[in-house]
Amino acid sequence: DGNAPDPLKTPTVITDTELLPVIEGVRICPEYIADGALVVDDATGCIVDYGSRQAMLADYADTAAQEGREPVKIHDHRDKLIMPGFIDTHVHYPQIDMIAAYGEQLLDWLNNYTFVTEANFGDPKVAHDTAQFFLNQLLANGTTSAMVFSTSHPLSAEAFFTESHRLNTRMITGNVLMDQNAPAPLCVPAEQSIRDTQDIIDNWHERGRQHVAITPRFAITSTPKQLRMAGDLYASYDSVYLQTHLAENRDEVVFVQTLYPNHKGYLDVYDDMGLLGRRTMLAHGIYLETSEYERLRDTGTQIAHCPTSNLFLGSGLFDLPKTLSYTGVSIATDVGAGTSLSMLTTLSEAYKVQQLQSNPLSAHQGLYQITLGNAQSLLLDKKIGNFMPSKEADFVVINPGATALLERRMAQTNTLEEQLFVLMMLGDDRVIEQTVVAGVSRYQKSNAL
Ligand code: GUN
Ligand code: ZN
Repeated sequence: DGNAPDPLKTPTVITDTELLPVIEGVRICPEYIADGALVVDDATGCIVDYGSRQAMLADYADTAAQEGREPVKIHDHRDKLIMPGFIDTHVHYPQIDMIAAYGEQLLDWLNNYTFVTEANFGDPKVAHDTAQFFLNQLLANGTTSAMVFSTSHPLSAEAFFTESHRLNTRMITGNVLMDQNAPAPLCVPAEQSIRDTQDIIDNWHERGRQHVAITPRFAITSTPKQLRMAGDLYASYDSVYLQTHLAENRDEVVFVQTLYPNHKGYLDVYDDMGLLGRRTMLAHGIYLETSEYERLRDTGTQIAHCPTSNLFLGSGLFDLPKTLSYTGVSIATDVGAGTSLSMLTTLSEAYKVQQLQSNPLSAHQGLYQITLGNAQSLLLDKKIGNFMPSKEADFVVINPGATALLERRMAQTNTLEEQLFVLMMLGDDRVIEQTVVAGVSRYQKSNAL
């Protein structure tokens, strides 16, 4: 019904284009269609087209009827907002069981809580149950793709891929490489751990929508031998990812210096071991020198900014504009150091972290980042991230007035930019009405709250 009131009242022409991100020389403009429709091919799970509802009905529903083909199914989401599925570029699925653990900063938090929980993942039942629970939580938050840490048990990655493959979500993970400075049950000797990763690559890399990342935890928990073997394995593939952590916490940086006194700094350890490159995602990168930013730039290495985690662990304030001036930055939850799986909540905390440094983050920049921006950072933008025809139909149906407060606040807004900013600041899993993965509905909010 074209006369239905639109909750996001007036589509506006965005004038402040200076704030919009640039990809490969092209400025990315947000596109908003007030009374729109998305056309999905059920057979392929891909997007066929999008545009005004009227035009889409005329081009697809009416012609199908005229030509006597099977009628087009129409799902009516009036008053809702349809966005590309959200993408989380750094999150630990086993840590969903110890999210919100009190009092410590990074190194004590790892020793006192994280490693204790991760040790349970040698049990296949724990791994499968947690992977299933975690993936359902992602979907309830509108997240359809993620780059994920499992544990050092190869079966933890296997369990995650099995569940993700069943849901047909596009996911990236790998067994975590650790062989020192951690409890014995979590340490796997270098050769064995690399063989485990190799097996996981053989079984899962680019099987359906799954991808493998070589996953050394960080410089502290791997011997130089394990890091070097990881780098050699990385060099032998041209599509496998690599993920680890970098310069998150001051004590961590000092510890790395004591372990590697002959290296120029933290990043130089990874550089020396062959871990940098365009398919590398490094979480955090808060404490970096100019020469390190330059190496990130020269190698194409990506940074994942994790604001709720940085605040929760008291790690520090990430300098977004500075990092962006050197290399690609994605945004991520980092649960269980992060305190929410919601990419909207994550954006709201990213906004506050930048406010403390006098660089407010606009809603367009934020919403771009958790969709196409993160897809670009993961080199997945040809498949996901927006509604370009032939991309995979991963999308979320959002209710911008899902709570009494949101409904009331939205009624006071005048522009799309304002509405999206309120959504970014106040929205979370409560605004996610439905989540669709490759054309199949995988989450539907229950009406009983
Ligand atoms: N550095 C090494 N391991 C971890 C982890 O599990 N979480 C965070 N936030 N930082 C890390
Ligand atoms: Zn992390």
